[in-house]
Amino acid sequence: MTTSTTQPPETGASQTQDPFETRVNRPVAERISELTKQAKPDTLQHVIFADQFSRAALERLCHLAEAIRTIAKSDEGARALQDLLRHKRTMLYFTQPSTRTFLSFTAACQILGISCNEVRDPRLSSEVKGESIYDSIRMFGSYFDMIIMRTVTPQMSERCAYLVNDIAPRVNRLTPIINAGSGADEHPTQALLDIYTIDRFFNFVKRENPTLPGAGGIDNKTIGFCGDIGRGRTIRSLAQLLAKYNNITMHFIAADEPELRLGADIKAKLTQAGVDVHEHDSLDATHAGSPLLEQLDVLYMTRIQTEHDKDAGKTEARRQNDAMQAFKMTPQRLQQMKPHASIMHPFPRDQRFGEIPPQIDADPRAQYFLQARNGMWARAALLADLFGINDVIETMAKQYT
Ligand code: CP
Repeated sequence: MTTSTTQPPETGASQTQDPFETRVNRPVAERISELTKQAKPDTLQHVIFADQFSRAALERLCHLAEAIRTIAKSDEGARALQDLLRHKRTMLYFTQPSTRTFLSFTAACQILGISCNEVRDPRLSSEVKGESIYDSIRMFGSYFDMIIMRTVTPQMSERCAYLVNDIAPRVNRLTPIINAGSGADEHPTQALLDIYTIDRFFNFVKRENPTLPGAGGIDNKTIGFCGDIGRGRTIRSLAQLLAKYNNITMHFIAADEPELRLGADIKAKLTQAGVDVHEHDSLDATHAGSPLLEQLDVLYMTRIQTEHDKDAGKTEARRQNDAMQAFKMTPQRLQQMKPHASIMHPFPRDQRFGEIPPQIDADPRAQYFLQARNGMWARAALLADLFGINDVIETMAKQYT
């Protein structure tokens, strides 16, 4: 396995004359339509951005993830799952660093018997000889049944999906593209696993405490997001998915710096979707007369994405700045939270900044390691859905329950 973290040439969209520029700037409904299987409404052809998922699709995928998990509990079930897609091959094209997304997609493929190959170091690809990313994608599509890609360039996976659609009639093959993180833009499969984690957590709380008010599901929840709101693609994608549920309140907690705060575009989108949106400049803020931390059902922590800082001095200044303590979880702050709240983090957490110190990890509210494991099951469900084997899995689940 190659593990270099070198940034890719990504020559496909670097020119001013990118062939897909007009299409990525169309109204979202048109883009969603082109990324959906025409013969099967609500079924994704390519997975590019969060807005493609309807609430029904999210519920279907959470259910499918639970079914796969149930089947995989026994050796016999795990072996049966591995026979389902043994004839399929996936390319993992990850030219931006990744631990969880890369490995959990690999594991998800293995669960379903899909074989994988990878490009992680663009220095080992012919892009160094001047090949465009579009030519690379066409090549991958010749050899593989699916392309899962992470790039530094926003909307690159969307452009590649349109390329695949355009050439499909000529090559008689349509290779689905999955966006596994695109610049500071979107990370839809992280958002999917986050939804699965929240849903699963509150359903568990309800089973354990049937009379607890508000337990169960995602509706009526109050969600806090803390850290790098402006540059965090996981927050952008997750907030849009949560907006599909009923009576959601969101609190965004970030330092008063334009690049870290909630962007106007996403704020407008959430407000339009009926979300009750609030912004704060500390985890110790109060809201409606009482401490904010006491009100949260979920606190979604994120690291400050220093790789986007223009100069290293700014990064170091933030690490040294006492005012940034306002965006770190501490045992004292944990004490203020509800006994059935969930603390999440997409990871990696930054040990140099310390937004969640390891001493929090043993608290049952700390869900972030489980969240990462849930990613494997949620991604397996997504692959099963894209390859159209939902019904087979649902039938198997009854047998293995
Ligand atoms: N959450 C996430 O995307 O982690 P990786 O960058 O390690 O894949």
